[in-house]
Amino acid sequence: MAGILFLVLLFFTGAYEKYGPTPLPFVVPKGWPQPPTNIFASNPSTREGFLLGKTLFYDGNLSRDSITSCASCHQYFAAFSTFEHSFSHGIENRFTQRNAPGLFNLAWKTSYHWDGGVNHLEVQALGPITDTNEMGETLDNLLLKLRNNPQYPPLFKAAFGDTAITTKRLLKALAQFTGNLVSAGSKYDQVKNGKDSFLPYEQKGYEIYKQYCSSCHSEPLFTNDKFSNNGLGLNKLNDLGRKRITGLSRDSLQFKIPSLRNLKLTPPYMHDGSMGYITQVINYYTVIDSSLPQLDPILKKPIRLSERNKAELLAFLFTLTDTSFTKNKNYAPGEHIIFRH
Ligand code: HEC
Ligand code: HEC
Repeated sequence: MAGILFLVLLFFTGAYEKYGPTPLPFVVPKGWPQPPTNIFASNPSTREGFLLGKTLFYDGNLSRDSITSCASCHQYFAAFSTFEHSFSHGIENRFTQRNAPGLFNLAWKTSYHWDGGVNHLEVQALGPITDTNEMGETLDNLLLKLRNNPQYPPLFKAAFGDTAITTKRLLKALAQFTGNLVSAGSKYDQVKNGKDSFLPYEQKGYEIYKQYCSSCHSEPLFTNDKFSNNGLGLNKLNDLGRKRITGLSRDSLQFKIPSLRNLKLTPPYMHDGSMGYITQVINYYTVIDSSLPQLDPILKKPIRLSERNKAELLAFLFTLTDTSFTKNKNYAPGEHIIFRH
């Protein structure tokens, strides 16, 4: 009898939860589509898994020089892009070959990287950890470092039930952190939820966006997750984009269509960071040479915008900035997790 009472008490005080990780349900923002696949299908998202993933994400020990963390290229204040750098610094002053994208709303993507070369978030982190231009570390050495760091065995135990530190768990935890980065709190979202309204010139900009940009940068994620070419040719690094992955000539110079969310926080732009300002991007779209062979047919029709239209489009694009995302303590370095859905 006393035993049952104790169990009942334990249940009602919430202490019961101590015996397993606490589920962290993935919540789809109001009005958004369900993600095309469930990236957490074989990796149930929990608070403890997320916290471990976050700790790893901000830890320089993941690299050979023990100072280059994921967050050194994916900066918290810049919606997890590298702010104002075309290419990001890896270990020993090496550079990445592409511009680091912001990390948010990854759960809606069916492939990752500018060329779609990674098809599941859980394996993505293998790339940067072992890439000689990024973190340059071996998995064996990394696991050794984590096992010898008194901080980690308890974190792995809390997330996965015992203290074993394996590559699989490391990758699952990182994917729980990055997969849960959701940015849906911009002015645009407030307007869609009826909590704010566009100023007249933002509204005009929205209409211009719908006319010229939305077929590729589609609402509400501001990308259709497809590959395309917006006129950019071969750069100095001979980056052929998607062709590098598929070998198909029709994929030459095709790049993943990036989201337009949080643009203000993620300069410079394009796969090689070749455009520094949003105004430069807008101007670019109005002068694209329609005879370029690689150009997406949608963009063959010239985009004519007056100076006023350009300013209106810019004002609309600024409504896609989500400062609640860059101030979200759940995603900041440190131990706070205060999820409120
Ligand atoms: C040296 C800089 C650097 C470091 C360190 C780094 N990244 Fe990246 N990250 C990049 C670049 C550059 C890309 C784009 C690569 C491409 O498209 O080929 C990228 C792409 C990504 C993407 C794909 C995003 C998308 O929308 O397609 C994810 C996810 C990601 N990184 C997570 C991580 C994680 C997790 C770590 C730590 C284990 C990490 N990165 C470490 C520079 C870095
Ligand atoms: C036919 C599809 C298509 C259309 C239409 C289109 N874009 Fe793009 N956009 C792309 C592709 C593809 C990229 C990536 C190009 C690259 O890096 O090689 C891109 C990149 C961008 C970027 C850079 C984002 C970043 O994070 O680097 C911005 C900003 C942008 N487009 C704005 C616009 C605007 C504004 C319009 C409408 C005037 C528009 N786009 C119309 C396909 C399109």
